[in-house]
Amino acid sequence: MATAAKSHFCLEGRLLGFTPGASSPRKFMTVQTSTGEISVKLSKSLRLMLLGYLTAGDWIRLVGKQKLDPETQEWRYKAHEVIKISERRSLSPRLASPIAAAKPAPHQPQKVLVCNKSDCRKRGSGALCDFLETALAASGRAEQITVKQTGCMDRCKTGPHVVFMPGKQRYSKVTAAMLPDLIQKHLQG
Ligand code: FES
Repeated sequence: MATAAKSHFCLEGRLLGFTPGASSPRKFMTVQTSTGEISVKLSKSLRLMLLGYLTAGDWIRLVGKQKLDPETQEWRYKAHEVIKISERRSLSPRLASPIAAAKPAPHQPQKVLVCNKSDCRKRGSGALCDFLETALAASGRAEQITVKQTGCMDRCKTGPHVVFMPGKQRYSKVTAAMLPDLIQKHLQG
């Protein structure tokens, strides 16, 4: 049997509405992106969290995993994070788009440090590293920007922590949905 290809995704678009499944009235959401409408499955924890938070028409960013169906050759999306964003002039269908626009600062090595000790790891720092590496590879910048796992940064209760170099800008309680904006902000010339 063919193995399904999997990867992370980050999509932005406009919420069109929720679609029920057998077990939940909010199992899927339909999102209008720049490349068309897509249906995204929501993780169980998200289905409750989104109750009352989003309404049709909201602009959102979704982060999660996508799997290529070997039969239909179509991507299936499952979201783990959804945040509201302000309206974008042009939608970014993939994480590669906003990162590809970033320009490296000449002569200054760029690094992203991610605390990967126990407390931060429990709060999802491993997924942040995966997400950063996938995003940088997708934009062809994996050679120029290093993602480095570090030891404890002594602020364990507010992890996961991410630090952007040069500049040493530190962020606490980082989620994958925050990363595209942080990369655009800090990894530009
Ligand atoms: S474990 Fe990350 S700051 Fe201590």
